[in-house]
Amino acid sequence: MNKTALITGASGGLGLEFAKILAQKKYDLVLVARNEGRLYALKNEFETKYGITVYVCSADLSVKDAALDVFNFTLEHELDIDVLINNAGFGDAGSFTECDWKKQYDMIQVNIIALMQLTHCF
Ligand SMILES: NC(=O)c1ccc[n+]([C@@H]2O[C@H](COP(=O)([O-])OP(=O)(O)OC[C@H]3O[C@@H](n4cnc5c(N)ncnc54)[C@H](OP(=O)(O)O)[C@@H]3O)[C@@H](O)[C@H]2O)c1
Repeated sequence: MNKTALITGASGGLGLEFAKILAQKKYDLVLVARNEGRLYALKNEFETKYGITVYVCSADLSVKDAALDVFNFTLEHELDIDVLINNAGFGDAGSFTECDWKKQYDMIQVNIIALMQLTHCF
């Protein structure tokens, strides 16, 4: 039976690279990000190429308790997560006093709160 890895921010960048490496190692995957269409395209690609099972869990981790929804998704699908890759995140640049507060808030939610909540849940 394959091990299962859950990767946040799996729709692109480093998260996608983690997904490819783990797919090559025959891990089943739970792919988490906002871009559901992209995740389904990756599901088709990986299942065909590597013979693994890929679950798509679209979530906006800047939304309060979205991490809990991700955890509940794994319970509903009776998945045991062997590897958690808390990769989703983003940064900002420029003067803090002039920055957009909503963006700062979302960054804290995604980069810190969701990461801690997922780690706590799993
Ligand atoms: N690349 C670097 O040099 C560097 C340096 C330091 C730290 N990092 C950190 O490493 C991680 C990956 O970096 P990267 O360069 O690969 O970033 P990236 O190419 O911008 O990819 C970020 C990933 O996170 C997902 N994401 C962003 N906001 C999200 C949200 N609200 N909810 C759910 N998923 C969200 C994006 O998917 P969707 O848009 O589909 O949601 C995407 O899959 C990030 O946490 C980044 O801050 C990167």
